[in-house]
Amino acid sequence: MELKGKLVQWRRYLHQNPELSFEEFKTSAYLKNELQVMGVETRMLEPTGVIGIIAGDMPGPTVALRADIDALPLQDEKRVSYKSRVAGVMHACGHDGHAAILLGAAQVLAERRGELTGKVILIFQPAEEKPPGGAVKVIEQGGLEGVDWVFGLHLWSGIPVEHVGLAAGPVMANADEFSIKVLGRGGHGSMPQDSVDSVLIAAEIVTCLQTVVSRSVRPLDPAAVSVGAINGGTGFNIIAQETFLKGTYRSFSEGTRSLIEQRIREISHGICAAHGAKCQVDCRRGYPAVVNSERGVEILRAAAARVVGEKRVLEPEPSLGGEDFSYYLQKVPGAFMYLGATPVQAFPHHHPNFDFAEEAMAIGVEILVQAVFEVQQKQENTDR
Ligand code: NI
Repeated sequence: MELKGKLVQWRRYLHQNPELSFEEFKTSAYLKNELQVMGVETRMLEPTGVIGIIAGDMPGPTVALRADIDALPLQDEKRVSYKSRVAGVMHACGHDGHAAILLGAAQVLAERRGELTGKVILIFQPAEEKPPGGAVKVIEQGGLEGVDWVFGLHLWSGIPVEHVGLAAGPVMANADEFSIKVLGRGGHGSMPQDSVDSVLIAAEIVTCLQTVVSRSVRPLDPAAVSVGAINGGTGFNIIAQETFLKGTYRSFSEGTRSLIEQRIREISHGICAAHGAKCQVDCRRGYPAVVNSERGVEILRAAAARVVGEKRVLEPEPSLGGEDFSYYLQKVPGAFMYLGATPVQAFPHHHPNFDFAEEAMAIGVEILVQAVFEVQQKQENTDR
């Protein structure tokens, strides 16, 4: 079967058999088997990662290519032959496509092994969707040892097929999480004077948190603070003793990240103190910002331009989304790009009807393979 057919076959198998973060046991067994069929050396990582290793005959730089492989806790509502066979679990972000693309790259590179000068490491990474994420585990187990460059991509339904999005510097944000517990004093709804109303205080905190970005962060510095959940109270005539808030904060720099955390704490404690309540604030850091290296972007841009043409390499604005590809880029230079994949009927990523244009996968394979040769033919080393 030609590669395009195989890509669809791999992708559809994975799409029909999705597994959640850190539970990708069948997925990794399948990927390992496919790699072995191609004659690619494999190594399993704890708990559900797979690495493929292709070494050329000649020495040279080592390039790592990474795909994430996990699905989401979501019911697939598409009406297609290849819809998810697992109730409540679905590949709604395109990670099935990422794994298929990396298998495709493995096949091409294994066939062209004789042309390789150096090594290629194919990282099939579990659990991108669930912080602390699978990238940290891959790195802990030596997944980046000896690696000079790392490249990765995300299929993107917002960019047309045969186009890519690529930019230098920070492209995705620090994606962090906060929770606030407001401790008031419960009582009867008819006797507010004897209580401390945690619902009212929480409401004030929600409103005031909106001043963090609008008043404390520099206007030209992108950031977001969103309260995603509020829970408190049990009855119409009961003043709630406790109310819980949960949300996310996004930033690009370390300074802004700390500033937002400081303001969340000051606002919460300040408002609680003003009303005689207590509070507990927890700021939990998630994935750091994805920062593409200049040279990594140049390499990937050259590779992409050869495949789709220079004019179709777009430069999107940074996104406040998060990605644990950032951990690799903290260790090794490289770049992460968006691969255009708008289907006939587009739904947002993480939507129960999400799908992508499968013809994008072959383009992804070509770009990744080309990136490997760009690095190795120029003998790019990191000690520039
Ligand atoms: Ni994703």
